Amino acid sequence: MAKQIHLNGFIQNSPSPHSTGLWKHQKDKGTNHHSLSYWVEAAQILERGKFDALFIADVLGTYSVYENNHHAATRGAVQLPAHDPLIPISAMAAATEHLGFAPTISATYAQPYSLARQLSTLDHVTDGRVAWNVVTSYLESEAVNLGLSGRLPKELRYNRADEFLEVVYKLWEHSWEDDAVVYDKERDMFADPEKVHLINHDAEFFHVPGPHLVEPSPQRTPVLFQAGASPKGRDFAAKHAEAVFTKNHSLEALKQYSQDIRRRTKLQGRDPNEVLIFPMILPIIGSTEEEAHAKLEELTSHVSYEGTASLLSGHTGIDFSQYDPDQYIEDIETDAVQGNLDMYTKDPNKKWTLREAVKNHGLGNGTVKFVGTPEQIADKLEKWAVEGDVDGFNIAQTYSPGTFQEFVDHVVPELQKRGIYRTEYEGKTLRENMFGKGKAHLPDHHPAKRVGLLQPK
Ligand SMILES: Cc1cc2nc3c(=O)[nH]c(=O)nc-3n(C[C@H](O)[C@H](O)[C@H](O)COP(=O)(O)O)c2cc1C
Repeated sequence: MAKQIHLNGFIQNSPSPHSTGLWKHQKDKGTNHHSLSYWVEAAQILERGKFDALFIADVLGTYSVYENNHHAATRGAVQLPAHDPLIPISAMAAATEHLGFAPTISATYAQPYSLARQLSTLDHVTDGRVAWNVVTSYLESEAVNLGLSGRLPKELRYNRADEFLEVVYKLWEHSWEDDAVVYDKERDMFADPEKVHLINHDAEFFHVPGPHLVEPSPQRTPVLFQAGASPKGRDFAAKHAEAVFTKNHSLEALKQYSQDIRRRTKLQGRDPNEVLIFPMILPIIGSTEEEAHAKLEELTSHVSYEGTASLLSGHTGIDFSQYDPDQYIEDIETDAVQGNLDMYTKDPNKKWTLREAVKNHGLGNGTVKFVGTPEQIADKLEKWAVEGDVDGFNIAQTYSPGTFQEFVDHVVPELQKRGIYRTEYEGKTLRENMFGKGKAHLPDHHPAKRVGLLQPK
C-alpha cells in the first residue's frame, strides 16, 4: 500500500495567531475565537476532512521582547488576546465523533498533579481523543507572570519537564489498576483501595505522593506531542514523544531533521518509526497556479510588518526594533525557540535580512508555503512525505477556518483519489487513528510504562 499521510490542523485561541494581521481579511473569522460556534465549526470541518486532530498552540504571556513592551503585539493582535486552549475542547468533542484534540500546556508552569487530572478528565469526556503538546515555553513575559524572577535556562526547563513527565506517567499509568473501580453495591465499595496506589514521587523538582484523582481513562496517557528543535529538545522528543512538529523552509532541511529525530529515537532504544513526524505547511490554494500566486500576494498585503517583527522577536528572543530592516539576522544560541531562529540563520541557500524574514514569517509563522492547484499541492505533500520521511502534515492557516475548509474541500479528495489518505477513521481513540486499531494505549517499552512505583513508606 502507498504511504499513508496523516493531517492535523494548527490553530490557537487567538485571532489570526499564525498569520499576523490576517484578522483584517474579509474571509477571516478568527476575531470570533471567543465564541464556541467558531470552535465547533473548525472541528466539524476537520472531521469532515478526516484529520487526526486539531492542534492548539498556546503561550501564557505577551510578545514583549520587541521594544521591551507589549505595544506592537497588542496593536497587531500578535497571539493576543490569548485565551485558554482547553476550555473549548468539550464543546468540540460533543459536536464531533472522531477528531482528536491536542492542546499545548507548558511543563514549565503547570503542576503535574493538577495537569494529570485535567487531561484525564478530558480523555474521559472525549472518549479517548486527547493529546498533549508538551512545551517548555520561551517567553520571559510568561516566567515573570507565573511566579519566577525570569525565564529558566533551556537546559533546566527540559530537565524539569523530564521529571514532570515521570510524575504524570506514574499518575496515569501506575496509580489506578485497570480493575480498581468495582461499583460493588453489595460490599458498599465503589473502588478497591488495594488497587489505587500512592506514587510517592520525591525527586529534584517535584514531591507528589498521589494517588491520581481520576480513574483510568480510555487512553490513560494522552497522546504525547512535542516540538523542541534544540539538541536538548530533540533528545527530549526522542525519549518521550509519539509525534513531533517541525517547521522548515525546504525539503532538504526537513530530510536532515527527520534523519536526526529517527537517529535520536533509536538511541533511546525505541523504534525510529515510532515517533510520527509532522512538518507544518501553509497551503495557498487556487484553481490555477496563477490564481494561487495572486492569492499569496493578496494575503501578504494584510501582514503587519511591526506585528510580525514583534512575533519574530518573541520567537527568537532578539529585539528586532534595534535592527535595520536590511541587516542580516545573526546566528546565536537562544533561550527562546532555536528552530525559529535557525530557519533564518542556518539556511544553506541564503542569508536572511530582517525585512525578508519578517515577510516570510508573517504568513504561517514562516513555515513553508505550498502554493498552487489542489493537484500541485497534493504532489508536493506526497513528495515531502516520501522523500522527507515524514508521516503527515500540520496544516497552518491564513484566514480561519476558511483555510481548513478550502483544504478539506479541494486537497483532501485529491489525496484520497491517490490512495494516500484515509476515507474513514480506523479507530475510536486518537492513538488508534494515529497508530492503528487496538493501539489505544502506549506500547510497553515506552518510558511511561517503565517508570515504576516506589514502595509506599
Ligand atoms: C511547530 C512548532 C509549534 C510550537 N508550538 C508551541 C506552542 O504552542 N507553545 C510554546 O510555548 N512553544 C511552542 N513551540 C516551541 C517548543 O515546543 C519549545 O518549547 C521551544 O521551541 C524551545 O525549545 P527548543 O529550542 O528546543 O525548540 C513550538 C515549536 C514548533 C517548532
